[in-house]
Amino acid sequence: VVVVAFLAACSDARDLSAPCTTCEARVHPDGILDPSSPAFHGAELARRNWGFATCATCHGTDFRGGTSGVSCVQCHTDGPTACTTCHANGPTSGAHVQHRSAQLACAECHRVPDRWDAPGHIVDDAAPAEVVFGPRAALTPDGAQRTGPPTFESGTCRNVYCHGATMDHAGGDATEPHWDQPAPTGTCTHCHASPPPSHARRDCATCHPADAPHIDGVLQIGTSTGCSGCHGDGSSPAPPRDLAGNTSITSLGVGAHRAHLDSPSGLRGPVACTECHAVPATVTSPGHIDSELPAEVTPTLGWERASATCTSAWCHGPSRPVWTRTGDVACGTCHGIPPSTPSHTPAMTLASCATCHPQTVTAAGGIIVQGGQSAHMNGVVDAQ
Ligand code: HEC
Ligand code: HEC
Ligand code: HEC
Ligand code: HEC
Ligand code: HEC
Ligand code: HEC
Ligand code: HEC
Ligand code: HEC
Ligand code: HEC
Ligand code: HEC
Repeated sequence: VVVVAFLAACSDARDLSAPCTTCEARVHPDGILDPSSPAFHGAELARRNWGFATCATCHGTDFRGGTSGVSCVQCHTDGPTACTTCHANGPTSGAHVQHRSAQLACAECHRVPDRWDAPGHIVDDAAPAEVVFGPRAALTPDGAQRTGPPTFESGTCRNVYCHGATMDHAGGDATEPHWDQPAPTGTCTHCHASPPPSHARRDCATCHPADAPHIDGVLQIGTSTGCSGCHGDGSSPAPPRDLAGNTSITSLGVGAHRAHLDSPSGLRGPVACTECHAVPATVTSPGHIDSELPAEVTPTLGWERASATCTSAWCHGPSRPVWTRTGDVACGTCHGIPPSTPSHTPAMTLASCATCHPQTVTAAGGIIVQGGQSAHMNGVVDAQ
């Protein structure tokens, strides 16, 4: 007891309000440098409502020593009033660490002072720290449902965009997280189910680009807006590219799409998607993405995936070309030149066809295509 009293007497705080011109030794009590001591200088500053000005009377207005000869900057290299002196790399309380590793700025949840003595920060503002949401928590993208502004009450975030609270029927299982009981990391079902209940498919990257920014307020669907976002390219929504990104004709998803749509052989005008598929009016139209692969092909064509051919398409006559075949077609591929029906004789040549099929071929034997229309391969035998 005596010893303690002696030490206490010895280390009694000097009145800091009287600056010293040539400072005597031991101005401060023991513990001034011990963060666990009530006499710690950080605690002393807090007790003085962050009265840095008092410290500056002896340690200098630049905190580099002044008459005390002890520089604060030797330990606080950014200066004692720098944000990092009191916040280091940011708090570790509650879910701060998780949010920091997700690269969230303080401003998403707090009003951030531009200097330590800014209004509303510490000098005129007692604990606890205020949660004031930035714009992200209040986002309501197209199609989302918001029932109220984002709030933080009793440790719980409500109506916060980031946690899926405003997404429409997304099926998240923790859209009102508690700050001190952060949801376990590493799972994708807290803010939206994976996939959301509206989905029939799990291959996220087919429709949501793998490098799409996440929780940015924009639902990224496809690599571009419109029908070419997930298949096709700028010129057409038809493959190539197919849903897996393939561009080669030998891939089943690509195959002879462009040979039909662009009709480079000039055998007729372009074949519309509707000849082979039900075409959705919008991305979410029934029959479009509401099933697993493969894409549905119009049943009457008799599309047989294993052999990659149409087994009952009238277009090819009795011939059954393979969808992924490369190379040109010739006049004789689908029907004889001439056919062996009674109207024809084997002696007939291409140059003679026009005699009886003038709507279809020229006198030179070329197919007539005008304005994308042709009598050839229109489903009707045109003869006179
Ligand atoms: C009256 C002059 C004076 C005032 C006012 C003053 N100090 Fe000091 N301070 C000193 C002197 C002299 C030393 C050198 C060690 C000693 O004498 O305790 C010192 C040393 C320190 C040290 C280093 C201790 C060590 O052992 O290296 C810290 C930290 C410190 N002061 C913080 C503060 C803070 C924070 C304030 C404002 C709340 C403050 N001081 C106000 C004079 C002062
Ligand atoms: C000898 C090294 C040293 C000196 C000199 C020093 N400090 Fe510190 N200071 C520390 C340490 C260590 C901490 C605690 C850091 C931590 O807890 O992470 C600290 C913390 C602080 C804090 C943060 C308090 C809080 O509650 O977050 C302030 C403000 C501060 N010092 C101001 C000063 C001022 C002003 C001076 C000069 C008058 C000064 N320090 C001189 C080592 C020093
Ligand atoms: C995702 C939202 C969020 C982000 C981002 C965030 N905070 Fe916080 N912060 C909170 C919440 C919630 C509390 C607790 C408030 C309460 O309990 O009333 C809090 C409390 C605090 C406190 C007081 C309690 C403590 O632990 O010290 C400080 C200081 C603080 N935050 C500073 C920061 C700083 C600095 C940053 C940026 C590096 C930051 N926060 C980023 C939400 C956030
Ligand atoms: C001298 C210590 C100190 C310095 C320097 C400091 N802060 Fe703080 N800061 C605090 C304390 C203490 C709190 C409030 C904790 C509480 O209220 O519970 C706080 C709170 C905050 C909060 C939470 C919102 C609020 O205002 O309550 C943010 C964000 C923050 N500080 C950012 C900063 C930034 C940015 C800087 C630098 C420009 C800075 N601080 C400098 C001590 C400091
Ligand atoms: C076949 C394409 C496709 C696939 C595959 C797909 N999505 Fe989607 N996703 C969409 C479309 C289209 C929408 C917008 C319409 C809707 O909400 O159904 C959407 C919407 C969403 C939404 C917002 C839901 C809402 O309620 O606003 C989330 C979250 C999402 N998808 C996540 C996923 C995840 C996670 C996966 C993989 C597990 C996935 N998606 C797979 C096409 C797809
Ligand atoms: C903290 C809440 C949260 C968690 C956890 C989360 N998501 Fe999301 N996710 C969202 C929000 C909000 C959207 C709405 C679109 C946006 O802003 O990016 C979204 C949208 C998506 C989308 C649609 C594409 C896009 O970004 O627009 C995919 C795919 C997705 N999330 C996958 C995942 C996967 C995979 C995981 C797990 C690794 C996951 N999400 C975990 C909140 C979350
Ligand atoms: C001549 C018939 C035909 C036409 C015309 C056609 N397709 Fe296809 N399409 C197919 C066949 C055959 C497949 C392969 C189905 C399978 O994988 O079993 C297919 C597959 C697809 C696929 C899925 C690709 C993948 O990666 O699995 C998409 C998307 C597609 N077609 C879109 C279109 C669009 C858009 C158009 C019109 C711009 C179009 N198709 C025109 C026959 C056609
Ligand atoms: C979000 C990605 C995505 C977008 C955007 C998209 N599609 Fe598709 N599309 C698919 C997927 C996935 C399939 C394969 C569906 C299946 O497995 O049945 C497909 C298949 C098709 C098919 C083949 C027939 C079928 O339903 O299987 C056609 C035709 C088609 N899409 C046309 C369109 C049109 C027209 C648009 C614009 C209104 C469009 N697509 C926008 C993903 C998309
Ligand atoms: C991809 C298969 C295919 C190829 C290749 C093909 N045809 Fe045809 N052609 C048909 C079909 C199917 C018909 C049946 C009637 C119709 O739909 O026009 C037909 C009918 C005809 C007719 C009868 C008139 C008519 O329009 O009905 C003539 C003439 C003809 N083709 C000439 C040619 C010539 C010349 C070539 C080579 C330049 C050629 N065809 C290549 C499929 C083909
Ligand atoms: C003397 C008139 C005549 C000439 C010349 C002629 N055709 Fe025809 N062709 C017809 C008639 C009539 C039909 C319809 C009845 C039939 O199918 O035999 C027909 C039908 C066809 C068909 C459809 C066959 C089917 O199975 O439905 C094709 C293909 C065709 N002609 C191709 C040709 C080609 C190629 C040439 C030139 C090499 C040619 N024709 C020359 C009179 C002619």
